[in-house]
Amino acid sequence: MNLSTTILTTSLKDYCSSNGEIVVGNHPLTHIEKLVSGTPFYAYDRQLIINRVKQLTDALPAKISLHYAIKANPLPSLVQLMATQVSGFDVASKKEMLLAMQTGMPTDKISFAGPGKTVEDIETAIIAGVTLHVESAGEIAKVELAAKQLSVKANIAIRINPKFELKSSGMKMSGGAKPFGIDEEQVPDILQKLNLEQINLRGFHIYSGSQNLNADAIISAQQQTFMLAEELVALSRKITKRKIDYLNIGGGFGIPYFAKEMSLDVKAIANSLQILLKKHKALVDDLEVIIELGRYLVAEAGIYVSKVIDKKISRGTNYLVCDGGLHHHLANSGNFGQVIRKNYPVAIGNKLNGEVQELVNIVGPLCTPLDILADKVLLPKATIGDYVVIFQSGAYGSSASPKDFLSQPQVSELLL
Ligand SMILES: Cc1ncc(COP(=O)(O)O)c(C=O)c1O
Repeated sequence: MNLSTTILTTSLKDYCSSNGEIVVGNHPLTHIEKLVSGTPFYAYDRQLIINRVKQLTDALPAKISLHYAIKANPLPSLVQLMATQVSGFDVASKKEMLLAMQTGMPTDKISFAGPGKTVEDIETAIIAGVTLHVESAGEIAKVELAAKQLSVKANIAIRINPKFELKSSGMKMSGGAKPFGIDEEQVPDILQKLNLEQINLRGFHIYSGSQNLNADAIISAQQQTFMLAEELVALSRKITKRKIDYLNIGGGFGIPYFAKEMSLDVKAIANSLQILLKKHKALVDDLEVIIELGRYLVAEAGIYVSKVIDKKISRGTNYLVCDGGLHHHLANSGNFGQVIRKNYPVAIGNKLNGEVQELVNIVGPLCTPLDILADKVLLPKATIGDYVVIFQSGAYGSSASPKDFLSQPQVSELLL
């Protein structure tokens, strides 16, 4: 049995009003439902996001610039809020780039990463003055050609696939063969061949992974990142004779989703970064050092709310059938990279203190056994019309879900 109540206390405290109701930005669920004209919906709490960014920037050394990876949650109002909170954006498509630019964020604080950039992506990034994180020799050739044709110098950083990996990561994105970045051993050759007439090499991007709750693993990857950066910067200065001003050391900070997971020890990471910046002072003095984070900044600031529309018992198992499901929240259903499905923290939103409890399976309206909202959870007894609230839903929610699957109604999103 998977008792989601164990983690609920930590999730709930951010959303519980003094009279024991779930609220987002002081608005109870009934009001939010009216604002967005019905369930299901995502609601994001702007104050929680502001608090999270502040806590982190207070903890990190002042030398570190914090960038927001828009892929975690590209809701325009949220990205606009982020523009006032962080010092740059990481984008993964032309659409995200245009969104980032329209917030007024200076374009030299926007980076565009990801394999398979099209000529259109590249041309528009060059025109915009955004820094392209180049991921292969072929991509560099495309950038050089586009820059020549546009008669505009392209700002690039070389994304490195280092030999090391980020241990204990939910998603490893470095070490071994990877579609991301250029293998570190190929960099000398790449630097020799760079056409500096067309290209302004700003620096390097070393991104190792995502969703990591192990501070020691992140610290170890950062130590190796700085060592590698020393080599890369020295090599590029020797070969290109140009100044480097940019080092993006990735991120990977995770958040707890499941019972028994603990919040990341950010203090330990911040302390280690302080030491690393001292140790590599000569290197970093001339560089902007960037950490890019998505999930850590927004995931805990959002909830996904659907409504019970049917209740049934099948051979002794209680089912709550809701109007929302995996088509809006694929990650919660367990189909977004989880090996063994586990429940996100969940509550019956309007019955937090219901005395009679019931063991239930909560499912969505899709005709597939994959459409699970929560599996075997002990919750206050629910009836039709009750709210099912999934916490930790501010990142990789709506935009990471197959919204057209089975042509069900779309989900609303609101930042409050
Ligand atoms: C290059 C890059 N930057 C940033 C992120 C954001 O990761 P997270 O949301 O876990 O912080 C990712 C995630 O895949 C990424 O690939």
